[in-house]
Amino acid sequence: MIHQDLRPAAEEVLRRNDRGAFTAPSPRQYPHLWLWDAGFAALGWAALGDFERAYREIRAALRGQWRNGMLPHVVFYEWPSAYFPGADVWRSDLAAEAPAELPTSGITQPPVLAFVVEILTRHDPDRGRAAAFRREAFPALRAYHRWLHILRDPQGMGLSLLVHPWESGMDNSPLWDAALARVPVGDLPPYRRADARWVPEEQRPRSADYDRFLALILHLRSHCYGESGVRTSPFRVYDVLFNALRHRSEEALLAMATALGEPTGEIEGWLAQGRAAFQAYLWDPAREFFLDWDAVAEARIPVIAAGGFLALYAGLATPEQAREMVARYLTNPEAFAPDGGTRYRVPTVSKAEPGWEPRRYWRGPIWINLNALIAHGLRRYGFTDLAEQIRADTFALVARSGFWEYYDPRTGEGLGIEGFTWSAALILAWDLLEVPETR
Ligand code: GLC
Repeated sequence: MIHQDLRPAAEEVLRRNDRGAFTAPSPRQYPHLWLWDAGFAALGWAALGDFERAYREIRAALRGQWRNGMLPHVVFYEWPSAYFPGADVWRSDLAAEAPAELPTSGITQPPVLAFVVEILTRHDPDRGRAAAFRREAFPALRAYHRWLHILRDPQGMGLSLLVHPWESGMDNSPLWDAALARVPVGDLPPYRRADARWVPEEQRPRSADYDRFLALILHLRSHCYGESGVRTSPFRVYDVLFNALRHRSEEALLAMATALGEPTGEIEGWLAQGRAAFQAYLWDPAREFFLDWDAVAEARIPVIAAGGFLALYAGLATPEQAREMVARYLTNPEAFAPDGGTRYRVPTVSKAEPGWEPRRYWRGPIWINLNALIAHGLRRYGFTDLAEQIRADTFALVARSGFWEYYDPRTGEGLGIEGFTWSAALILAWDLLEVPETR
């Protein structure tokens, strides 16, 4: 349930950021279409009752699809712009698989679209329209997941490999510190960041990280975003958040395939692989947490980040694992729970991590999309009180500060960009994210 008093302001943010064909995450800082942002924005439009607009958002994301199935993390509608790195850096035209007319990036982002489409078509009161849209979107979504399982699983791990931190959606998380430190910077051409124009530098990634973000793009670009670039990337990670959302999306794909009378065997196979891989590679019995796997170092990444809790959203934890993660971390004031220093749930990184920085982007602040996904994961496992506390904290943050990109967990101060699309969309659509299996 939304506080009625937040609804008009949330709607105002969505309308302000609406570019017609797509919703910009923030028209100044992020003036193009971002993949997972588009999924969350679509939920916001649906919560406002505008399913047509929600479907248009999904279509805009799918229009960027490559012929090999990849959904790029940015589609450069309204290009040129002041955004960096723009289409002139990415050069998707170098890849034979990229759409000819529409510039895009050459990497992906967390796979939320399939479960978003399933939610939209389940809630659309116009059943005929919902069925038609499900039929329209399903083949593209299945092709994307095939790409995730084939091209992005070169070792047959049952998990999808990330070759750039931006693919995780959590750009400068401490999760990547050690893996990024190994990325050679070489002689980067001189470049000017555009992101610190609107946001204080201390809230954004450091320059050393940016050099590596760019070096990785240039590596992948030099292989025309093909398989050889993936294989030889100096950054190769299997991430919990990304793969948990992939799994949740595949549960949704299975439901859609069944409704459409499409074959289900392939999707069931993906689900089985994902479940096995989470237990075999990502669960760390000593730390009692799901950890990322660094494929270059061939070891788990020993950083406790909030993305680990998304295993619950996907139903990937055993009930016992869920209990351990909640007891040892989520309700522990030294890790994620409020204490004398922090007042709000859930910081993106455990406070016990040496890399924790409560104001710097993905290194500690609270993000509303993660809070919503964590809360619904907790509900799936029966932790309804804790889920409600996270919801209450999130709504309190917004009531206090407005719709910011992220928030300082100590004070609730808004950070980054104000008027951020998914913060508004998910306040509107909070309840829509519920996993049907919860009931
Ligand atoms: C940043 C965030 C990413 C988001 C994008 C657009 O890159 O890290 O998660 O999708 O901005 O909002």
